[in-house]
Amino acid sequence: MPLLEVEDLISGYGKMAIIQGVSLRIETGDFVALVGPNGSGKSTLIKSIVGLTTIFEGQIKFDGSDVTKQQPEHIASMRLGYVPQISNVFTDMTVKENLEMGGTIIRSSAHKREIYERVVTLFPLLASRENQRAGYLSGGERQMLAVGRALMAEPRLLILDEPTAALGPKIADQLFLKLSEIRSQLGVTIMLVEQNARKALGISNHGIVLIQGKKAFEGTPEQILNDTEIIRLFLGELTI
Ligand SMILES: Nc1ncnc2c1ncn2[C@@H]1O[C@H](COP(=O)(O)OP(=O)(O)O)[C@@H](O)[C@H]1O
Ligand SMILES: [Mg+2]
Repeated sequence: MPLLEVEDLISGYGKMAIIQGVSLRIETGDFVALVGPNGSGKSTLIKSIVGLTTIFEGQIKFDGSDVTKQQPEHIASMRLGYVPQISNVFTDMTVKENLEMGGTIIRSSAHKREIYERVVTLFPLLASRENQRAGYLSGGERQMLAVGRALMAEPRLLILDEPTAALGPKIADQLFLKLSEIRSQLGVTIMLVEQNARKALGISNHGIVLIQGKKAFEGTPEQILNDTEIIRLFLGELTI
């Protein structure tokens, strides 16, 4: 059974459909890169999965349960983690408080401490900044905190919306490396939306290309990177 299954999804905002009939499957253990030009609907597609858009048609199943039109809180409680592109940390709260808030659905405090240790081991930088307000972190640190915060709820699937968008190439590479570790060491399935298609495809095992609200292509990263037609369609992103 796929971990995530989207069937013939039509979704958008108000009465406007942006996603125009998308189907996809993510298997447990996958690292999926969702790429495509600006405005193609990548954010809208993942917002639909986590319950933040209007769904007109189609079905979304997570771990076999129908989550179509469910409340975002309910979907999150099923251990589907989402790191939005902006406003993904509370700037007035400390690093530690942000992380603790991420783990509010974990009941046992011993278990929560265990997860906390796991997160700060993955991001040692967060441990050294525990008592600092998140607003004082650099862009890269803030994104690491946003990812750490999502990990505090022990997601089975972690969906990230352009986590490297505002970062320099070096910090972006560090974050990509962490995402690979999160998949290989913590066993979290990952769906990554990225403008930097080449980099994202380089660390994924499956790629989906979204163009104008439709799935234009999917396959292995090699298939996508070797497809001259697809490269032509969004050359800008692939030549970075
Ligand atoms: N909150 C919103 N309300 C109305 N339209 C939106 C909203 N957010 C995005 N859109 C529109 O949806 C389309 C797809 O946007 P988006 O999903 O953000 O694309 P991407 O993430 O691929 O850049 C764009 O035409 C955009 O203007
Ligand atoms: Mg977007």
